[in-house]
Amino acid sequence: MQPPLKLWRNARLLTCDAGAQRIEGALLTRGPRIEWLGPEAELPALGACEVHDLQGAWVSPGLIDCHTHLVFAGNRAAEYAERLRGRSYEDLARAGGGILSTVRAVRAAGEQQLFDESAPRLAALLAEGVTTLEIKSGYGLTLADEAKMLRVARALGRAFPVTVRTTFLGAHTVPPEYRGRADEYLEALVHEWLPSLAAEALVDAVDIFCERIAFSVAHAERLFAAAQALRLPVKMHAEQLSNLGGTLCATAHGALSCDHLEHAGEAEAQALARAGTAAVLLPVAYYCLGDRTLPPIEALRRAGAALAVASDCNPGSAPGTSLLTALSMATRLFGLTSEEALLGVTRHAAQALGLAHERGTLAPGLAADFVVWNIAEPSELGYWIGYNPRRTVVRAGEVVPWPTATS
Ligand code: NIG
Ligand code: FE
Repeated sequence: MQPPLKLWRNARLLTCDAGAQRIEGALLTRGPRIEWLGPEAELPALGACEVHDLQGAWVSPGLIDCHTHLVFAGNRAAEYAERLRGRSYEDLARAGGGILSTVRAVRAAGEQQLFDESAPRLAALLAEGVTTLEIKSGYGLTLADEAKMLRVARALGRAFPVTVRTTFLGAHTVPPEYRGRADEYLEALVHEWLPSLAAEALVDAVDIFCERIAFSVAHAERLFAAAQALRLPVKMHAEQLSNLGGTLCATAHGALSCDHLEHAGEAEAQALARAGTAAVLLPVAYYCLGDRTLPPIEALRRAGAALAVASDCNPGSAPGTSLLTALSMATRLFGLTSEEALLGVTRHAAQALGLAHERGTLAPGLAADFVVWNIAEPSELGYWIGYNPRRTVVRAGEVVPWPTATS
């Protein structure tokens, strides 16, 4: 038997499709999918069905946070205080702090503790209308601890009303056991860890931090070849602190996304657009690191690259759980228009996760994930800071209750 139809009428739909259509009308959902949308005068004949009157509210696709390190233990507030006194992120990393200090905390935490520490962060993102998010590993850096992080990410996806995509980021930094032996570490990832984690179905994509304090382009080439042999899509933390040529390598491999991009330029913008690789902007990291180098927004725009925006939720460079705040920063700090910012957390974020065929826009056949907003104008998304205008979240055709850390 088919699942029942639900009619969501009297809505102003921000479809976020290629034409960025705005439709005054209705959505019909059947189970977890959208069946139809359009003006009410064109509604197909319906039998009895559940009807929701949205009273003229604006409706967008469910928000997609396409770059997070949400699963971690502890925090790095003490390092933040040091950075405020002038110490740099790179300097802290070279001294064994930074990512490695979170690695110590994650290794010491059991699976339940990791879940319990991560759940309130997830609940905060969901409260703003996030219905899909990516969660990376990268703070375990042993096979067992990377598997632990990825299992917690999967468990969060089962416990909360959200679609979770996992990304293996074993190549986040060289762990202490391999200090000075980055090549050997990479070989372990390629030959042992990645095949084993993939066999357990814990990995949806593979990422690498390509940076002078992390891994080289040659390492990325090696890792990407291994990922692609396992039919896993790839992505890259690229050109965040310096330009190593990572974006050109990632786009040559057809990466789903390159993320950060503060030190990218014209050539990278062209390559991203040509390859259909999403440019994921992480303005919260730019803000918290007190960065001064802006990503090349105008070049990306001119080239026609897909601009996505994400929270980058992590304990070091972006200790935040608000995608709407990231939107505000993307507009004010990076100069995105309101329309670009909304596409950045819907259609283009779906593209960054390889999910554009199933979510990120309102269209027949796609996921019935949407947010009903308490706003008079779409430009209010990315305008409010610390105020949440979400009214109702629908995921897979069901109204989602207000999320709590235990839901
Ligand atoms: O996206 N750049 C590398 N990864 C994170 C930061 C991780 C951390 O500092 O813990 C990022 O900014
Ligand atoms: Fe990141």
